[in-house]
Amino acid sequence: MSQNSVINLDGQSFELPTFVGSENEKAIDVAKLRDLSGYVTYDPGYKNTGATKSAITYLDGEEGILRYRGYSIEELADKSTFLEVAYLLIHGELPTKSQLDSFESEIKQYTISNEVLKKIADTIPNSVHPMAEIAGLVGLMSAFHSTEEAGDDEKNMMRLIATLPMMAIWNYKKGLGQEVNLADTSLDYCSTFLQLMFAKPGEAYTVDPVVSKALNKLLILHADHEQNCSTSTVRLVGSSHANVFASVSAGIQALSGPLHGGANQEVIEMLEAIKADGGDTDKYIAMAKDKASGFRLMGFGHRVYKNFDPRAKIIKKAADDVLKALGVNDPVLSIAQHLEEAALHDDYFVARKLYPNVDFYSGIIYRALGIPTNMFTVMFAIGRLPGWLAQWKELKTNKEPIGRPRQIYTGYTSRAFVDIANR
Ligand code: ACO
Repeated sequence: MSQNSVINLDGQSFELPTFVGSENEKAIDVAKLRDLSGYVTYDPGYKNTGATKSAITYLDGEEGILRYRGYSIEELADKSTFLEVAYLLIHGELPTKSQLDSFESEIKQYTISNEVLKKIADTIPNSVHPMAEIAGLVGLMSAFHSTEEAGDDEKNMMRLIATLPMMAIWNYKKGLGQEVNLADTSLDYCSTFLQLMFAKPGEAYTVDPVVSKALNKLLILHADHEQNCSTSTVRLVGSSHANVFASVSAGIQALSGPLHGGANQEVIEMLEAIKADGGDTDKYIAMAKDKASGFRLMGFGHRVYKNFDPRAKIIKKAADDVLKALGVNDPVLSIAQHLEEAALHDDYFVARKLYPNVDFYSGIIYRALGIPTNMFTVMFAIGRLPGWLAQWKELKTNKEPIGRPRQIYTGYTSRAFVDIANR
């Protein structure tokens, strides 16, 4: 039953409508508050602001629930493929066999390189971080593909799903000074990626199914996460009617930050640093608790998960399985386990509800799969892409208005200009 909320301001009462989402999430609609009262809401970091209505992903941070289009992340990670999940996110339903076949084959067709884009990629120096490189290249894709005609958006979404991994491969091969192989078209999405990344020119390469399965799982776990920083960026940029390439490019830049997707690279670098420093995890726990140190335990804490991150649970098990199956003995794994154990029993972390997040163990798996550290966040971007696309499409379909927050101005009030000679 809908009801109004009443807010009392300056001796006056104002009624604001409320509404409830399909999982009983309650909201006060403040859209008219300023017109009615002269007040705006103030919510730094949007910790308490619902910026949109969305039917894509449901997340309950208290209960540790994550579902895409109603399907649990646990079930999808166990039973589905990344492209099936991409279809689900973008189109709203699991595909039939024939829908999935044509989705996969169209994406495969777009895997054939855009030679001009590749030439541009080749001119970017190796010193540039791959996230900066792919963000730039994705933005440039609008130079090659129409964004005006009916049906362009659907095609461009599939182009992006096909091309983003290619950009990662170009970057990796460029660093090695190797040519990019031809794709084996008989392989699935994850296996093609592994073949193109790791096959040496002129040498036979067989994709290890354990590796391909682990990659598939990781990409599914990252595929969407409702209104996080990069997704909100994609929606905000898209709200100006910027095309899908510009919007996704902005999302990639937002993801690159160490507090967001960049954390997976930072986690491994932190674990390496702890190892190099003698492996004393207590010392680093103490540093993380000392605000003056400026050090944070990377891979710990989450804006919305205050119980556990369900993705971290799945990833932790996957890391164990992958390392065992590949016979890898990664010394940073035991440092990660000690750190987790210590933090989970430490009052500072318990009181602040800081648990390992999805990025804590993902780097360990990526490393076991042979992905270089500076490419970890790119892998996150490849995984998150279907979510960005689904959210961009939803914004457009719902004809949402341009995003334009208010501010509370705290600067100088009006003052007279001072001539430069008198300053
Ligand atoms: N190590 C030590 N202390 C922490 C950490 C951490 N990793 N995370 C939060 N805290 C502390 C803060 O200092 C703060 O303490 P206080 O209340 O005494 O001031 C309290 O916990 C709350 O932290 P906030 O920064 O206010 O929480 P917020 O929700 O804004 O930030 C974030 C969440 C950015 C994820 C934060 O926990 C963090 O920086 N974690 C490390 C980076 C990381 O792993 N990012 C990946 C996130 S998952 C993802 O993007 C896929």
